[in-house]
Amino acid sequence: MIQLRGITKSFGAKTVLKGIDLAIPTGSTMCIIGRSGCGKSVLLKHIVGLLKADAGDVEIDGRNVRKLSRHDLFALRQRIGYVFQGAALFDSMTVKENVTIGMVEHGVTDAKLLDSEACRVLSAVGLLPPVEEYESAAFQKEYAIIMNKKPSDLSGGMRKRVGVARALVGRPDYIFYDEPTTGLDPVTSQQIDDLIGVLARNLKVTSIVITHDMFSVFNVADRVAMIHEGVVRFEGTVPELRDTTDTEVTDFLSRYVAEGF
Ligand SMILES: Nc1ncnc2c1ncn2[C@@H]1O[C@H](COP(=O)(O)OP(=O)(O)O)[C@@H](O)[C@H]1O
Ligand SMILES: [Mg+2]
Repeated sequence: MIQLRGITKSFGAKTVLKGIDLAIPTGSTMCIIGRSGCGKSVLLKHIVGLLKADAGDVEIDGRNVRKLSRHDLFALRQRIGYVFQGAALFDSMTVKENVTIGMVEHGVTDAKLLDSEACRVLSAVGLLPPVEEYESAAFQKEYAIIMNKKPSDLSGGMRKRVGVARALVGRPDYIFYDEPTTGLDPVTSQQIDDLIGVLARNLKVTSIVITHDMFSVFNVADRVAMIHEGVVRFEGTVPELRDTTDTEVTDFLSRYVAEGF
């Protein structure tokens, strides 16, 4: 369970977050929506400790992130997979290197371990057959094709999958996606939405999905929160979102749904 209490953040004279209160129940998928620049990415960075709030607290599984030692904060970060806005892959690195960079940075040098984890996560996102088939010719063929590709050799949807695969390294309990379908065509977006759903169900991760894609919201969300002018303006289930009479929310929805994506 992630609990945000009164998260407040200013950059210079500009106050972006003005007291965000939000609970993300364990095992659920929470979509966060709101206008561009309203502070969605900033909020996510507070949860992983990349930004520090001016006021307010983030609690994860009952522990206040602010009060964690460096060691415990590091351990917490290991339990969170973060799919950054844009795919944020390194162009000069292969798929395998991109996926395992976190392990390498943490001192893992065992080639077998790096290989098996890369296979596991690339299988999980559908870029390789199931890992149980590792020994098969079909697996090895796919393996040879994907592992040494560079991001520029991949489609937008495949790059996104590699970004998700990287987030799955180390078996996180939480996955945060920052605009996972932005820039993808509708069919590929739907595939990424399906992947988010499959991972939530199969790996039982708690997910936060920042999006301005209302189709994604309807596809993946258990609950939805809309940020507006620095606070949570709406929080509830998808049916509750459809039924809300708050014109600030309905205006936002009609504008974005009308734009069609
Ligand atoms: N590191 C930073 N320094 C200064 N301003 C920032 C920083 N990060 C974000 N902002 C500002 O905070 C606001 C919210 O940004 P962001 O969370 O990225 O919006 P979005 O909801 O589109 O993800 C924007 O006005 C942005 O310019
Ligand atoms: Mg953003």
